[in-house]
Amino acid sequence: MRNLIFISLLCCMVLSCQEAPVTKIYNGEAKSAILDNMLTRRAIRKYTPQTVSNAQIDTLMKYAIYAPSSLNKQPWQIRVVKNEQWLTELNNRFLAYAEGKTFQGSAAHYKEPGFSIFHDAPVFIVIARDKNNPVSSLDCGIILQNILLAAHATGLGTCPLGTVVPVMNRPENRDLLEALNIPEDYDVAINVALGYSAENPPVKQRYADKIKIIE
Ligand SMILES: Cc1cc2nc3c(=O)[nH]c(=O)nc-3n(C[C@H](O)[C@H](O)[C@H](O)COP(=O)(O)O)c2cc1C
Repeated sequence: MRNLIFISLLCCMVLSCQEAPVTKIYNGEAKSAILDNMLTRRAIRKYTPQTVSNAQIDTLMKYAIYAPSSLNKQPWQIRVVKNEQWLTELNNRFLAYAEGKTFQGSAAHYKEPGFSIFHDAPVFIVIARDKNNPVSSLDCGIILQNILLAAHATGLGTCPLGTVVPVMNRPENRDLLEALNIPEDYDVAINVALGYSAENPPVKQRYADKIKIIE
C-alpha cells in the first residue's frame, strides 16, 4: 500500500473566489443568526454517507479564506479530500501508529472494529501551515474556525481533528502529503471532518470564570 501512487487519483478543486461585501451593521434576526451560529456549532462525530458537493465546498472555502492572518500572509495550504483510497490509507497509518499506545477522547476506541479516526466523514480537510512562518499555527487556527462556522451556517457538520496530526507529520508518512501536493516547507496544523451530521450532541461545558474584566 505504501508505494501506491495517489496523485493520479486525486482531483483538484477550483475555487471561484469573489470579493466579499465590506462594512455592514447587523441588527435583528441577522445579528441573532450570526451569534447563534457560534453558540450552536458542535463537534460532530457521526455522519450520514451523503456526499458534499464541490459547489458546497467551494462556497465554504470562499468564506474560509476571509480569515485574518498576520501580515495577510495566509500561511496555509488547504486540501479538501474526498478520495476514499487516500482516506482508508490515512486511517490504516493511524492504526499502525496507535498500536500499543493509549489515547484520550474518541481515539481511545481505535481497537474497535470499523474505527475511523475521521469519524467516517465523507470529506477530510487538511490545513497545512508554512513551517517558516512563526505564527502560521495561529493563523491556521483562525481559518479552522471560519471553516467550522461557515459549514455550520450552511447545514454541514464538522469536527476538528488533531489526534491524527502527528501521524501525518511523521517523515515515513510524507507520501500522504505529497499525494495532496502539499509543499515540502509545509506540515499539517489541523484537519477537519466534514459532512452531514447524523447526531445532535449536547453542548459541552464552558468555563466562563477563565475570563476577567480588569477596570
Ligand atoms: C485543535 C483541536 C483538535 C481537536 N481534535 C479532535 C480529535 O482529534 N478528535 C475529535 O473527535 N475531536 C477533536 N476536537 C474536538 C473537541 O473535542 C471539541 O471541539 C471540544 O470537545 C468542544 O466540543 P464542541 O466543539 O462540540 O463545542 C478537537 C478540537 C480542537 C479545537
